[in-house]
Amino acid sequence: SDQEPFYGTYQAGILTPPQNHVQVVAFDIKTDRRDELVDLLKRWTRLCARLAAGLPYGDSESRYVPPEDTGEADGLSAGHLTFTFGCGPSLFDGRFGIRHKRPDALKPLPTFDLDRLDEKWSGGDLVVQVCGDDAQVVFHAIRNLVRVGRGTVAMRWSQAGFQRSKAADASGGTPRNLFGFKDGTGNPDVSKKQVRKDSLFCQWQDGTPWLTNGSFLVVRRIQMHLEVWDRTILKEQERTFGRERASGAPLGSTDEFASVTPAKRQARGEAALPVDSHTAVAHGDGKTAILRRSYSYQDGIDEKTGALDAGLLFLSYQRSPKQFIEIQRRLAAQDRLNEYITHRGSAIFACFGGISKGGYIGDALFA
Ligand code: HEM
Repeated sequence: SDQEPFYGTYQAGILTPPQNHVQVVAFDIKTDRRDELVDLLKRWTRLCARLAAGLPYGDSESRYVPPEDTGEADGLSAGHLTFTFGCGPSLFDGRFGIRHKRPDALKPLPTFDLDRLDEKWSGGDLVVQVCGDDAQVVFHAIRNLVRVGRGTVAMRWSQAGFQRSKAADASGGTPRNLFGFKDGTGNPDVSKKQVRKDSLFCQWQDGTPWLTNGSFLVVRRIQMHLEVWDRTILKEQERTFGRERASGAPLGSTDEFASVTPAKRQARGEAALPVDSHTAVAHGDGKTAILRRSYSYQDGIDEKTGALDAGLLFLSYQRSPKQFIEIQRRLAAQDRLNEYITHRGSAIFACFGGISKGGYIGDALFA
């Protein structure tokens, strides 16, 4: 079947192999009544559970009321549809009596050198990441979340992303970003329990019991200056990433998955990667890992340059925001890639632990 379970220990959409499409929507809450918010989370739970199972929101048959479901996904399968919900720092500003429940680490990300952030792509009280293999099914899900939320929440921003479809790459190789390089190679192996525990999911002892089995999501809208890149010689492009474009292998290796850890390369007699290459700087000593689950975006024309406004809808999950901050601080200071990219949006969310049958999204926080 092409359904992903909605209920489980963790929310779907984190460990789920990346689907073809993503749409991430941040909401601001328009009520200060906790019961209204909780009621919405319950209605969203019902909606998401049904849609993930390939069912419509409802199937009222009366011709004399607006249909319960909007209909554009009728007859379509779920296409691995997943929903991942989280809350931003602003949810804890006192409106809902949960100020004391804010995880210490959940605060707006620090400003990094070279940031050129636009408010319109930043922040949010709540977020949902919707992923699926069919663009129409993903749209239908977002549309109905918004519809059900009307009056209680308003959309703050909405960003869509794509990658090569799985159908177009039967080999299931690492997808390429818009600079033509394989992107995702160096992700931690989250099939390992220890890796999930150390790097990905919040643990009870982290100090915020309600966030157990949750994860922090960082969203960065990063514009990629395609025209500058496209005039850059291949050798320099490869130096910038520290990897070969064709194979994705670290420079000096032939295997895409060869280690990039300096000590390991040295032990094997392999050349070190250029110190300012994106891979070397992001990797550091290899002790701090994040799970990148990014997609490409394209969004019309950049008004200032007349070029395509396109880039990376960077999404990463981590047990603590510290992991992202540490890596991004290094990148902002040293990454050769900085010449070709600009960070335009930023948001951070604490994504809830998994939802159990009979429970609702965020119930551990509001219980
Ligand atoms: C690795 C692209 C931004 C963190 C890579 C690789 C590419 C890439 C091609 C090498 C292949 C791989 O391991 O996936 C990009 C592009 C970016 C971008 C085009 C911006 C438009 C970021 C940001 C972060 C980040 C903002 C986090 C702060 C990493 C990490 C690795 C990596 C952790 C793996 C390093 C390792 O091998 O351990 N990126 N990246 N990247 N990137 Fe990025």
